[in-house]
Amino acid sequence: MSKKNSYKIALLDGDGIGPELMNEAVKVLDLVEARNNIKLELIHTPFGAQAYFDCGHPFPEQTKQICDDADAIIKGPIGLSHEASQKIPVDMQPERAALLPLRRRYDTYANFRPVSLPPGLAHFSPLKKSVIGDGIDMIMIRELVGGVYFGNKETGVNDQGLRYVVETLEYDEEQIRRILKVAFNVAQGRKKVLHNIHKSNVLKSSVLWNEVLSEVAKDYPDVEVRHLLVDAAATLLCLNPSQFDVMVMENMFGDILSDQGGGILGSLGLMPSACLGDQKAYYEPSHGSAPDIAGKNIANPYSMIGSVAMMLEYSLGMAAESKNVWQAMQSVFAQGYSTPDLSKPGSNVTMIKTNEFGDRVTDALAKAPSTVD
Ligand code: IPM
Ligand code: MG
Repeated sequence: MSKKNSYKIALLDGDGIGPELMNEAVKVLDLVEARNNIKLELIHTPFGAQAYFDCGHPFPEQTKQICDDADAIIKGPIGLSHEASQKIPVDMQPERAALLPLRRRYDTYANFRPVSLPPGLAHFSPLKKSVIGDGIDMIMIRELVGGVYFGNKETGVNDQGLRYVVETLEYDEEQIRRILKVAFNVAQGRKKVLHNIHKSNVLKSSVLWNEVLSEVAKDYPDVEVRHLLVDAAATLLCLNPSQFDVMVMENMFGDILSDQGGGILGSLGLMPSACLGDQKAYYEPSHGSAPDIAGKNIANPYSMIGSVAMMLEYSLGMAAESKNVWQAMQSVFAQGYSTPDLSKPGSNVTMIKTNEFGDRVTDALAKAPSTVD
């Protein structure tokens, strides 16, 4: 993390609702720039399915160059509907040919996915008030560049003439150690409790994971480790989410449980994320591109603006301004406004459009105390 006065930020608008969410992120970035006497050079560049149609590749060379030169990257969701995806060859589909290569290129192994609902917003959750208690406030830490998503894949026809597939789940101890260290450090800075999510009753990868964990844990005697099988974790997230503070897990478990995190909050629209490597980081909503509602100005930009807030904290060293952005978003909800994903029939919520949510966030942020030293 560097502290300077001028930053280059690559903006990968993405597909579906991506561009309209990015518009709101840009409003916030423009205001942050003005409030903090810094220069944010925002460079839009193609990425995703639309980039494939326009440039012949979902992660074009030009975008790689811009990302290489950028201090941080903000990425919108990518992908098309199942039917529309069929127009793109399997190996050019943006998840496989753009998103995973982006993660690999910058080795963004530590994915932070906060699952957070302050007490005042507990009504958004589908869980009963008695289950939610004082709200939900946890962070899921997902290993992002290993495991079965990145392992070798082989398809063919076997000796019996049957089509088969092999996908490899591979981790070495160093890949495991580095994500666990990150998780222990985060736990140390919070409640000093770390839930280790695994499946060591079946998977050898989890056995190695847990071995490495017991070695790393020696350096963090003040952090209590609680082991939990991933299937049990799925149940407990619904039955008693407030027991969780920091959770750490391998790539696929994190993909699945973090979507469940969005479920217990009431919307994936409340799920921003940070994808951190040792040299470079990028920031993205955890959800997809929602092609069914694209262009309608009804998507929730919280996940995108929250990703901006995470960038301010982790890449730009602006923790205080980051907090202001979170508070500005929460104040919009607290005043009784929300986008349709969170406006349940019968609830006392005034429904607002995507752009109006962004405008209200910037109005609130403009009133927040200045963070310039
Ligand atoms: C996520 C997404 C991606 C993933 C997809 C789009 C490849 O679901 O970031 O959670 O599986 O990692
Ligand atoms: Mg996912």
